[in-house]
Amino acid sequence: MMRAKSAELFLRNRRFIAGGVVSLNRKVQPEIAFVRGQGAYLWDADGNRYIDYHAGFAPTLLGHADPDVDEAVLQAISAGQVLTGTGTTTWEGRLAELLVECVPNLEKVQITNTGSEATYHAIRLARSYTGKEHVVVMQGGYNGWHDDVACNVMTPLEKVGPFVSPGEYPYLPLSAGVPKDVARRVHVVNFNDLDSVDWVFSKYPVACLITEPILQNIGVVRPKPGYLAGLRRLCDKYGVVLVFDEVKTGFRHALGGFQSIANVKPDLSVFGKAIANGYPIGAIGGKEEIMNLFDAADETRRVLIAGTYNGHPVPVAAAIATIEKLKNQENTIYSKLETLGKRMEDGLLSLCRDLGITACVGRQGSAFCLYFMDHHPDNWHDLAEHHDMAKDLQYRRALIDRGVYHFPLPTKQGSISASHTPDDIDETLAITRDVLQSLVEAKIAAASP
Ligand SMILES: Cc1ncc(COP(=O)(O)O)c(C=O)c1O
Repeated sequence: MMRAKSAELFLRNRRFIAGGVVSLNRKVQPEIAFVRGQGAYLWDADGNRYIDYHAGFAPTLLGHADPDVDEAVLQAISAGQVLTGTGTTTWEGRLAELLVECVPNLEKVQITNTGSEATYHAIRLARSYTGKEHVVVMQGGYNGWHDDVACNVMTPLEKVGPFVSPGEYPYLPLSAGVPKDVARRVHVVNFNDLDSVDWVFSKYPVACLITEPILQNIGVVRPKPGYLAGLRRLCDKYGVVLVFDEVKTGFRHALGGFQSIANVKPDLSVFGKAIANGYPIGAIGGKEEIMNLFDAADETRRVLIAGTYNGHPVPVAAAIATIEKLKNQENTIYSKLETLGKRMEDGLLSLCRDLGITACVGRQGSAFCLYFMDHHPDNWHDLAEHHDMAKDLQYRRALIDRGVYHFPLPTKQGSISASHTPDDIDETLAITRDVLQSLVEAKIAAASP
């Protein structure tokens, strides 16, 4: 596959952009400059077409450039909806109402520009509400780029150390510039391990536990039966605010969030990504008693929410249109996503079986991940120990070279959209067969004398 124009663009942009990309999370090989997207496809600067499963890190649930969402944005602009920066607007009210209608556990909401801002606010609210400062996060979870949560995602085994339970892993920041004392108040535990949560809660003054209800930044690591309910129980026992980070799971799996499928009620929930199908937005919501701290009469407990662009008409119009479409076509869209997801899972498993490759598929609806290991992972430690990371990277890069875009980093979630068709899945599986076959042949060749 020719990528001369991509290479040229990277070279040019490196002269002006520190690091050459505007989010470090996008710094991967192969370097591809995409110039256009539509539905299930992306095109790069050299005109190569890819069936896209990256979905911009998962927001585009309806597919790229959804006509109804884009039309709503154009209408908002032509109706003169602008950033007023004062008072309230009809559109932010409508979005808030829709969120509260869709997610039963949201009594009040607030709107931000990104998921990171929303998780940041969740932690501040929890600290104000409980009067405590410590935070519990999951090894292998991602909740944004700020100090308390930007740590311990895909930590290599040699850094994460031996499996601990009950107990905590060392806080390992993803960034320089994080003050040292953050490590003192952030506690990292394994997903699916209630004993460690109990242990940490009993030792430290914990304000909140924040977790994705399914770890979808290391593929699709599902909660064991009873795990999320167990977190609820422990949070109640120790007076800790339970925050579900549904930035990836929310609206992708159900209108009510994954919490509605799991039937567990967090105190606060955070959304982003799929709520606006690719336009930049985030939201936080939950119990009125906690959310009202954004406007507490007592200044010492009032939590600041501010942002020049909060409630900007463009992303808000996109979010309203996305959620209304999901609501109006709820059964059709979510059953299509499940059918396509199942077709992908069955196809991948049957290919691996035919070729004698040890593998399993983590999946929830349209989110999936092929793991080269013999059992479904329970947590990052399990993955780091058993998943063949090198093979995963080779697999992803080989798929990309044949026109299927999976993010080229081991364990990254694949996201199917409502624009994908059964033919797209079948084409993907045909290409995957060639890729897996070539990996098997390369292994045999490497092993032969
Ligand atoms: C689960 C989760 N929470 C929070 C975030 C942060 O959202 P944003 O990138 O919009 O700041 C992400 C981003 O990938 C995420 O996956």
